[in-house]
Amino acid sequence: MEILDLRHFSSADLRSLLEEEVETWRGLLCWDYRSSADMILRYVDAKILPGYAAVERGSIIGYSFFVYEGSKGVVGDLFVSPRRDDARQIEAQMAEHVIETLQQSPGIHRVEAQLLTHPTDDLAGVFSSAGFQRYRRLFLELQLRHHEARRIPLMGLKHDIQIRPWIEQDYQPAASIITASYRAHIDSEINDQYRTHAGSIRFLNNIVRFPGCGVFDAESSFAAIHRPTNVLVGLILCSRVKDDVGHVTQVCLLPEYRRQGIGENLIACTANALASRHCSRLTLTVTEMNDRAVGLYKRLGFVERNVFDAFVWEG
Ligand SMILES: CC(C)(COP(=O)(O)OP(=O)(O)OC[C@H]1O[C@@H](n2cnc3c(N)ncnc32)[C@H](O)[C@@H]1OP(=O)(O)O)[C@@H](O)C(=O)NCCC(=O)NCCS
Repeated sequence: MEILDLRHFSSADLRSLLEEEVETWRGLLCWDYRSSADMILRYVDAKILPGYAAVERGSIIGYSFFVYEGSKGVVGDLFVSPRRDDARQIEAQMAEHVIETLQQSPGIHRVEAQLLTHPTDDLAGVFSSAGFQRYRRLFLELQLRHHEARRIPLMGLKHDIQIRPWIEQDYQPAASIITASYRAHIDSEINDQYRTHAGSIRFLNNIVRFPGCGVFDAESSFAAIHRPTNVLVGLILCSRVKDDVGHVTQVCLLPEYRRQGIGENLIACTANALASRHCSRLTLTVTEMNDRAVGLYKRLGFVERNVFDAFVWEG
């Protein structure tokens, strides 16, 4: 088995492995990975995707790619055919290559990786020995067809708070809410975009404008408004990751508006909007150490489907 530059290959070489990957995402996370896979294949043909392919007897049995965002490198994906008995070893070898390349890239001071389909501990040894911090993250799901879960009752909100559907004009104020909500928060250690307004705009662009993390679903996304001032104080954003599955890509509230039931109501609005359009599930990811959020989700009926790791290195 050899590990070679991904840019030596074309979509025809990678296609069957990506079909296996689409099956893996569907089975593990109820996530339709086809549009992401198509995008990867287009980038591979354009020879613009940095990464590696694990090749045996001329066939690609595993691949990984990464992207550069300013002085940060982000591991986009790492996948080895699950039919291989030695898949774990190959994954580890590929991870070593990717980490080494990113850490040695001139001007790169930070590397982030969140590999949702890899169970926690799977790659922890490789990343830890290269100096990465690890954060356990939970992939949770709420069944929407289940009778009781179908309608999370809306709690009474204080009169000065209104929840209404997301509108395009919320975009800029939403970036300020994200930055303020994640100040000194564990998730801004994992994703440094949350630390600045410009970073939060980039985060929103990725979620709302590009199909990287499902297709943004305005109909199941909501804003919490302080009525007297008509100012945004919190939000929930949801994308469709499969025709009948919604995924919360963001939920946050300014600190002074927490513990009043607004978060619960935002999730209820999203769950109910999806259920009324015959969706079967709502999923989300949360950092295990974010006790308050984990407690809220579990109380609302979310259950753990998967536990994975986020890794961060600062050079
Ligand atoms: C996660 C988050 C959105 C939750 O929002 P919230 O409005 O505080 O959530 P709720 O008020 O509905 O519930 C939170 C707690 O307040 C309690 N609560 C609700 N109304 C209350 C009231 N009137 N008085 C006292 N407590 C109340 C709830 O029972 C709940 O208790 P629990 O933590 O023991 O389960 C919010 O904490 C936040 O923005 N955090 C930072 C960003 C973040 O972590 N986002 C999630 C990433 S996955």
